[in-house]
Amino acid sequence: MPQISLTRVVQFSASHRLHVKSYSAEKNLRVFGKCNSPNGHGHNYKAEITVVGALNPETGMVLNLTLLKQIIEKTVIKHLDHKNLNLDVPEFKAINPTAENIAIVIWKMIRPKLARGLDLEIKLFETENNIVLYRGEKSAGERA
Ligand code: NI
Repeated sequence: MPQISLTRVVQFSASHRLHVKSYSAEKNLRVFGKCNSPNGHGHNYKAEITVVGALNPETGMVLNLTLLKQIIEKTVIKHLDHKNLNLDVPEFKAINPTAENIAIVIWKMIRPKLARGLDLEIKLFETENNIVLYRGEKSAGERA
């Protein structure tokens, strides 16, 4: 079956503070610099959400774009847009809301909504210049 990828781009705005509770104030400042600023700061995030799978020969689609749009609205946008990630989003109670962790959280929000045969990749732009890519957890068989 030919594999093809489908990407939807979405934007959301959120604030965060990079901070590790077990670190001292000095160590937090040293590790995270101005991103440790006590009252946080905001970003206009952009996420490229890519689904990879086999083309359905009947519909000519990998996944219905309307369905993907709805999934993204109900997961990513509803939970992250215009939120303080540290305070408003339960996933970040215990983990630091870095770009890496935000990409992983987005992946975990969307993954259960997709059919098993589809792969999912999240590319998150925290700024134009700072970009992370998460391709998901490898199954045991794929691990080296
Ligand atoms: Ni930041």
